[in-house]
Amino acid sequence: EGNPKPYEVIGEELLHRLIDVFYSKVSKQPELIPIFPDDLTETARKQKQFMTQYLGGPLLYTNEHGHPMLRARHIPFEVTPSRAEAWLSCMREAMDEVGLKGEFREFFYHRLYLTAQHMINTPEKDE
Ligand code: HEM
Repeated sequence: EGNPKPYEVIGEELLHRLIDVFYSKVSKQPELIPIFPDDLTETARKQKQFMTQYLGGPLLYTNEHGHPMLRARHIPFEVTPSRAEAWLSCMREAMDEVGLKGEFREFFYHRLYLTAQHMINTPEKDE
């Protein structure tokens, strides 16, 4: 009954593949390297849990870690406008690489774009 949840449209396998490819790009992105841990295994595990519930799937993140409070959890890191753009560009490349296309990609990317803007907590440093 009703429309399928976005999580059901993408499916667990493709969502996990997208996130793994995404963090392999993050680990090579010069602006992002300084704020992420060297080992992204646990980061990717939590992001799989988070994005599952973000797309309407089971509440895997909340069950293990409590309310996401996503902006608060990013406060320890300087998220500048250019880091938000770098994060989104890694995501676009990952979406290209796993072959996410069409309406679902537009929908998902737009939500990530809005959430990324919301995570910005530090103005751009003057050159
Ligand atoms: C954690 C950066 C956007 C979801 C983190 C961490 C960093 C970070 C440095 C900590 C990694 C760790 O210690 O394991 C950024 C930057 C962003 C951004 C620079 C650019 C705007 C987003 C967006 C989402 C998101 C758009 C969700 C759609 C998460 C989650 C965690 C996380 C779920 C794990 C939180 C936890 O520790 O439980 N992010 N992030 N982030 N981020 Fe982001």
